[in-house]
Amino acid sequence: MTSIRETATAAFIEAYGDEPTGLWAAPGRVNLIGEHTDYNDGFVLPFALPQRTVAAVGPAPDGRWSVCSTLAPDPVTFGVTEPGEVTGWGAYVAGVVWALRDAGFEVPPVRIALASDVPLGSGLSSSAALESSVLTALIDLGGLDVPLERRPAIAQRAENVYVGAPTGILDQSASIRCRKDRALFLDCRTYRIEQIPFDLAAAGLAILVINSNAPHQHVDGEYGERRKSCEAAAAALGVPALRDVSTAGLDDALRRLDDDVLRRRARHIITENQRVLDTVSLLRSGRVREIGPLLTASHASMRDDFEITVAQVDVAVQSALEAGAYGARMTGGGFGGCVLALIDADRAEATAAAVAGAYEERGFTAPTSWVAVAGPGATAL
Ligand code: GLA
Repeated sequence: MTSIRETATAAFIEAYGDEPTGLWAAPGRVNLIGEHTDYNDGFVLPFALPQRTVAAVGPAPDGRWSVCSTLAPDPVTFGVTEPGEVTGWGAYVAGVVWALRDAGFEVPPVRIALASDVPLGSGLSSSAALESSVLTALIDLGGLDVPLERRPAIAQRAENVYVGAPTGILDQSASIRCRKDRALFLDCRTYRIEQIPFDLAAAGLAILVINSNAPHQHVDGEYGERRKSCEAAAAALGVPALRDVSTAGLDDALRRLDDDVLRRRARHIITENQRVLDTVSLLRSGRVREIGPLLTASHASMRDDFEITVAQVDVAVQSALEAGAYGARMTGGGFGGCVLALIDADRAEATAAAVAGAYEERGFTAPTSWVAVAGPGATAL
């Protein structure tokens, strides 16, 4: 089978007629727990997928930037731009160049060809994988002094300001800072991280990722709405962010919010932050199986309070649990996307079959399932 790096190299040669001078890779992610907490200054716990985006890169003699991909073989070429000037998928690359320059760095002009096996539009951060592979390549090739802890915020600005998506820092942090066999415990306020041991195989366990293959609908509008509700709730409570309300202050906070929607949105964030902290404590002490109920509680909170799930992901969670999973939840922004289930390592096929059966009964498009192992973050190859 042709590897992604070979595919990216071939795409480079096809588009530009010579060999790339280097290859960089950055992964997609699943978030174990901590959903929509990132833009509330809260906690997240993602791990990197083995699936990744590879950028084959070479210098650009014309002083401009060019990028193509296996999905769009005709290169998009641009010079120094401002947000809005490059649109479509090329904006993710132009945005990274812009954000690095805006942070004061001299960005080397390059030609890029991209190949990826991160499923697109499935809530597994294919866009962060793209941004992070390009960002890492530009930093290495330019010899730029950008410490690892600063990099996710630069990629996030590309997405927030250049592409115009109001996302938090989860995806880019995961793609850049995750490590093999570790989950990344990130404080989204301070950017402090802790690499949490996450070797499931050693515990006889596995994470099954189930792509619901449900069409993503209204994602951007609904995401922005959730963000606004959280900010409104924090303002009403007189705190900088919902992160500043602990579960000890939950009842009081809920009493002080008079809007039922804001109350439920806030309850999700406040309880979800605590679930991340509880998950981290259990993992630190090697009690991996016991995180199951926290995962399932996170799903219920996303379904009932944050209202970001759809029938396909609810059915996937329910049928995985009925098939014996210790816990299951939707992962990512919501409105479709993927579910993860914590299972005994030898139950992957049976669990996947149970979910597929439930989908067939309801006439849903068939799901796609695989066992995910925590892989490395962005790197030169
Ligand atoms: C998307 C966003 C992230 C994060 C998640 C939800 O993936 O890009 O910043 O908010 O949704 O946790």
